[in-house]
Amino acid sequence: MDPDDHVCLCFHVSLRKIANFIARENPQVPSQISECLGAGTGCQWCVPFLKKLHSLHLEGKPMDLPVSPEEYASRRARYRSEKRAGDPNDRGEPDGAPRGEDG
Ligand code: FES
Repeated sequence: MDPDDHVCLCFHVSLRKIANFIARENPQVPSQISECLGAGTGCQWCVPFLKKLHSLHLEGKPMDLPVSPEEYASRRARYRSEKRAGDPNDRGEPDGAPRGEDG
């Protein structure tokens, strides 16, 4: 994913904006990233990815998500259609994206 690609597709929040927010604000928990233009507060598809970015920050690693924007958007579309059908659990996250953690 490139810096100008959107991580939160609901609110059009780019990877660059989120990375800058995290570097500037040093959020203690991933949920604080929602203060960056509402990221993660819509369909919630991107929440595991926001958590992954937060953990990369804590580990001092570069902010990146190993998925193309096309694949990411496609997985979100599937997530949203499955959510409407009653299966909100399958986001098809890339390896390493955390699941089911609060924060
Ligand atoms: S993609 Fe981020 S809340 Fe929907």
